[in-house]
Amino acid sequence: MISGKTNVLAIIGNPVEHSLSPCMQNAALKELGLDYVYLAFPVREESLAEALTGFTALGIKGANVTIPHKINALNYMDELHESAEKVGAVNTIKNDSGELIGFNTDGEGMLRSLRNEVSEIESKSVLLLGAGGAARAIGFSIVEAGASLTISNRTASKAKKLAETISGQTKGDVRQVELSKKVLIDEIKNSDILINATSVGMEPNTDETLVSADMMHSDLIVNDIVYKPLKTKLLEEAEKAGAKTIDGLGMLVHQGATSLEIWTGEKAPIKVMRKATENAIKEE
Ligand code: ATR
Repeated sequence: MISGKTNVLAIIGNPVEHSLSPCMQNAALKELGLDYVYLAFPVREESLAEALTGFTALGIKGANVTIPHKINALNYMDELHESAEKVGAVNTIKNDSGELIGFNTDGEGMLRSLRNEVSEIESKSVLLLGAGGAARAIGFSIVEAGASLTISNRTASKAKKLAETISGQTKGDVRQVELSKKVLIDEIKNSDILINATSVGMEPNTDETLVSADMMHSDLIVNDIVYKPLKTKLLEEAEKAGAKTIDGLGMLVHQGATSLEIWTGEKAPIKVMRKATENAIKEE
C-alpha cells in the first residue's frame, strides 16, 4: 500500500515511457517488502537542473538517469562515485540526506551478468564491439576485472581513443582493431568472450549483425547488450555456431540490481527482476 510514508525512486529521461526499469524495480521492491515506489518522469534536456533540484526538495531517495541526461547529470552531482567519474556518465543517483551522489552501474552490471555464466574472468580475452557510452562502461569493468580487452568499432578513431583512455587509467591490457570481417574472424579465433555494445540488431533492424555463425566457434561466449528483440540476430548466429549466449537482459537486470542495492542496502532479487522484465517486454 502506498501511504504517507512511502519512499519515492525515479527514472528520468526522454523518452522514458518504454523503460523497463519501473516494472523491474517495483517487482524487486515488492519482493523485498520495502515501502518504496519507483516512477518514470519524462524530463526535457533544458529541465534537468530543475528536476534534480526538485529531487532534493521533494526528498526523492534515488533515481536512474537515462538518455539524454547521462552525461549532463555529472554537472549537478554534489559528489561523484569513481564509477561515474571514470565513465564520464551517471546512470544512478542516490539522495544522501540532500546530497546527490552520482554512480554508474552499467559496468558493474555487465560484470555481474558475465560472472553468472563465466568463471575466472581475469583469464579471459574479451572482444568488445562498439565505442559509445555503453562500451566505455563495459570496457573499464572488463579490464578492472583483469581480463584482456580488444575494442573494435565502425569509427576506428573512437575505438583507438577509448582503448587509450582505458589503458591509461587502468594500466590494463587494451588493444584496438579494425572492424572488418577479415580482422574479426582472426580476433574471434583468439577470444573467449564477444560482447556487442553497438546498437546493431536493435529493432527495427533485427536482421543485422556484425558477426555471423561462420565467424564464431563453440567455445565462445557471446553477450549482446541489445534486448529488443531478446534473441538478436547475433545471438541466433551464435547458437548456430554452438556458442554460449547471454542476452541483453543480463546487463540490464544486473545494472538495475546494483542501483537498487545502492539505494536500499538490500540484496536485489535477481530472478524476480528478470521475470518482471521479460513479462514487460512480452506485453509491449
Ligand atoms: P550507447 O550509449 O548505447 O553506447 P552510442 O554512444 O550512440 O550509444 O554508441 C553506439 C555504438 O553503436 C557506437 O559504437 C556506433 O559506432 P560509431 O562509433 O561508428 O558510430 C555503433 N553503431 C551504431 N550503428 C552501427 C552500425 N550500423 N554498424 C556498426 N556500428 C554501429
